[in-house]
Amino acid sequence: PIQDIYAREILDSRGNPALEAEVLAGGEIVGRASVPSGALTGTYEATELRDREARYLGKGVERAVENVNNQLAQAVIGMNVLDQAALDKMLVKTDGSRDKRNLGANTLLGVSMAAAHTAALALKIPLYRYLGGTNPKEIPIPMMTILDGGIHADNTLDIQEFMIVPGKSKNFRERLRICTEVYQNLKEILSKSGFSIRTGGEGGFAPDLPDAKEALKLIEDAAKRAGYQMGRDIFIALDAAASRLYNKDSRKYEFFGESKMKGQRITRDTEELIEYYEELAGSFPICAIEDALDEDDWDGWRTITERLGEKIQLAGDALFSTNVQRIKKGIQEGAANAVVIKINQAGTLSEAFEAIETAQKAGYQIIISHRYGETEDTAIADIAVAFHAEHIKAGAPCGTERTAKYNQLLRIEEELGI
Ligand code: PGA
Ligand code: ZN
Repeated sequence: PIQDIYAREILDSRGNPALEAEVLAGGEIVGRASVPSGALTGTYEATELRDREARYLGKGVERAVENVNNQLAQAVIGMNVLDQAALDKMLVKTDGSRDKRNLGANTLLGVSMAAAHTAALALKIPLYRYLGGTNPKEIPIPMMTILDGGIHADNTLDIQEFMIVPGKSKNFRERLRICTEVYQNLKEILSKSGFSIRTGGEGGFAPDLPDAKEALKLIEDAAKRAGYQMGRDIFIALDAAASRLYNKDSRKYEFFGESKMKGQRITRDTEELIEYYEELAGSFPICAIEDALDEDDWDGWRTITERLGEKIQLAGDALFSTNVQRIKKGIQEGAANAVVIKINQAGTLSEAFEAIETAQKAGYQIIISHRYGETEDTAIADIAVAFHAEHIKAGAPCGTERTAKYNQLLRIEEELGI
């Protein structure tokens, strides 16, 4: 049984407070977890609790810490740490709201995740085995951000993330090496061409480029310089994070950076934006587009899935917000064919699992993702392996909060003997 739970306020990769929780069971077994946080939070994700007081510019999590140490402690002490489903149900019930606004999604997830760690420790097995049984046999393929834009950087790129995806190769460590070599070559190309090599929040470079095509050309150059062939060794994935670009009044997508660089206002309506993606996919080996359209544009999503879904992974991040009801709606509507899973959008481990299973049953691919504000917690690596996710998004090979996830996957691969 759970003997005690405890939380503290720590810092994330941006220097913002984050919640860290611990769960004690079996006399001396302590599992620990910390909770990440998005820069661009979708309208439909569970609500994280921030103090909104002067300290830490309103971003403190002292109330979340108190909620763990008081309400949640009262509710879960004595429960079986091995019964994750019952524990998560109790967490959700104690909060009592639809979107976890009362106690906070960060509050709930900290305890939910820490309990899973405690359970794995009690059983003396790794987290990926505790969650995935004996089934896990493969390491997900990375979608590695190498150029940051949108709200993740202060440059002119309107598309939030330009990611590289390795083609067929022997194993994860080869794939990680290939991607990292392209990243390092991109850095040299940028530097030699007089561009800034400063990085954005997820470690990708953030130069001021005129538009997406120029960014894609640079990635091609970097892959070539690293000795890889585009469309065979390296593919490209985009996260447009289109909800940020969408203007609900004009019903058009505003390309702020492109407008600035070209000295004229550039907007695209849904049809034009889909055509733009088709054009990009015609010129570059694009294998996936995430949040290609606004989170409420169900008609647009259906259209783009009909037009591009055969060839390209169309992934819903803000669209689905790791929410079972929204994923079910997407399946019904024929919207997207892949789901980005962010555990903290759901708020408990069990709800994230339900989201994954719902999507998998309908044949949607799974991308397990980090957040913009990350901590040293590596659980998403184990979760991605446990649930046979096709992909993992963990940012650039830059910053220990990002590489920690890749390094954990290296360890798991070694254990699996791949
Ligand atoms: P976020 O970014 O953490 O700011 O949501 C990641 C993403 O959009 O995939
Ligand atoms: Zn996204």
